[in-house]
Amino acid sequence: MKIHELVTLCALARESADPMAAMREVLENLRSKVGEIEQALSYVSGTGGNARQVFYRSPDLTLLKVRFPNGRRTPPHDHGTWASILLLSGEEKNTLYRTDDGKLRRASEVTLTRGSILTMRAETAHVAECLGDTPAIGLHVYGGDIFELPRRMWHPQTLTAHPLDWALYENFAQMASAAAGAPP
Ligand SMILES: [Fe+2]
Repeated sequence: MKIHELVTLCALARESADPMAAMREVLENLRSKVGEIEQALSYVSGTGGNARQVFYRSPDLTLLKVRFPNGRRTPPHDHGTWASILLLSGEEKNTLYRTDDGKLRRASEVTLTRGSILTMRAETAHVAECLGDTPAIGLHVYGGDIFELPRRMWHPQTLTAHPLDWALYENFAQMASAAAGAPP
């Protein structure tokens, strides 16, 4: 699979009347091609979920290869739009929260393995963490430009909501990674 083919599949789904459902279908169809996607994205280096790992960015779609190394846990955060993850390798635990009136309410958790898909609505926040010794690597798809949309993150200890700020985010991520688990 070539990068432009992957981008085209996702961009077409984004054009659909129900983009979140259409993207889910695209990712379901890609489950049997995880190895090919992994290979196609092997040129994307870096860690976390930052701008360096973006391989397509437009006002209505962002595509990233996200790599969480062993011991890495994100602070609770949202994406300003819906999001889908297709896990390519490793194991990634996701703790999901509802964000009514800015307060986090823990809703569920799911552990992704190779080929697993997770879809989150715009109003869902999550904590993602790598389980096991090998990095958790995933294809992340977002229904907007996640570097321009207003987004929120929550302090991992006090659970105070903050506008997403990348400098502060790293600080929060280190605090989150040092904790015993995702906030209750
Ligand atoms: Fe996220």
